Amino acid sequence: MPALVEVQDVCKIYDPGENEVRALDHVSLTIDEGEFVAIIGQSGSGKSTLMNMLGCLDTPTSGKYMLHGTDVSHMTDDEQSDVRNREIGFIFQGFNLIPSLTAIENVELPLMYRGVSKKTRMELSKTALERVGLANRMTHKPSELSGGQQQRVAIARAIAQAPPILLADEPTGNLDSGSSREIIDIIKKLHGEGRTVILITHDPGIASRAKRIITIGDGKILSDVINDKYEE
Ligand SMILES: Nc1ncnc2c1ncn2[C@@H]1O[C@H](COP(=O)(O)OP(=O)(O)OP(=O)(O)O)[C@@H](O)[C@H]1O
Ligand SMILES: [Mg+2]
Repeated sequence: MPALVEVQDVCKIYDPGENEVRALDHVSLTIDEGEFVAIIGQSGSGKSTLMNMLGCLDTPTSGKYMLHGTDVSHMTDDEQSDVRNREIGFIFQGFNLIPSLTAIENVELPLMYRGVSKKTRMELSKTALERVGLANRMTHKPSELSGGQQQRVAIARAIAQAPPILLADEPTGNLDSGSSREIIDIIKKLHGEGRTVILITHDPGIASRAKRIITIGDGKILSDVINDKYEE
């Protein structure tokens, strides 16, 4: 069986020419189904660029990206968005919630785009919000929720779609340490249920909760190790 994620000698170059930025510089990387990986690096090291590529939000300048054995490195925007809908749940730092919609409507929205029926949408969204401890906040709008609760809505939105891969870019970036811990606990639980989790962070404390830690710097992989302090 092919690896879930297989990145082969990928470069991403912004502004080619004299002032080019090599945001990814010959990166190769394999991630198997069910792994829990943290990608850590300083500001500007290429984390978000890598995440955008892994999440099929962007394509590499050179090299190859195979997802589930399919080459997704040269797809059109439409093809990419199909792959994203099928394969990937995103959790971003800024939550990306729609302010005018309630918590449950925010969770339902991507399911609506997929053509899921109202009844099924409601069931999936309710279950997902219960999973993240927001059973009693479903009809609140984002402005009526704390930062940690908003991030949990964003996680519920990702898990309601049951994607094989959860991709989180600084999911605790805006949160205090208590809320951060809760979010990571939820992410760990999702991994425990068999999901593949890729977590991007600049925080060594957060990275240390993952099973495998990949460090990047200047667009290159500096180290890729199993975390011997990992706790199930
Ligand atoms: N659209 C773009 N055009 C030009 N350069 C870019 C673009 N996006 C990112 N870069 C550059 O690519 C490099 C990597 O950026 P990236 O956003 O991947 O870093 P990061 O590790 O996510 O940083 P942070 O921790 O600050 O979010 C940086 O030098 C950045 O300035
Ligand atoms: Mg970033």
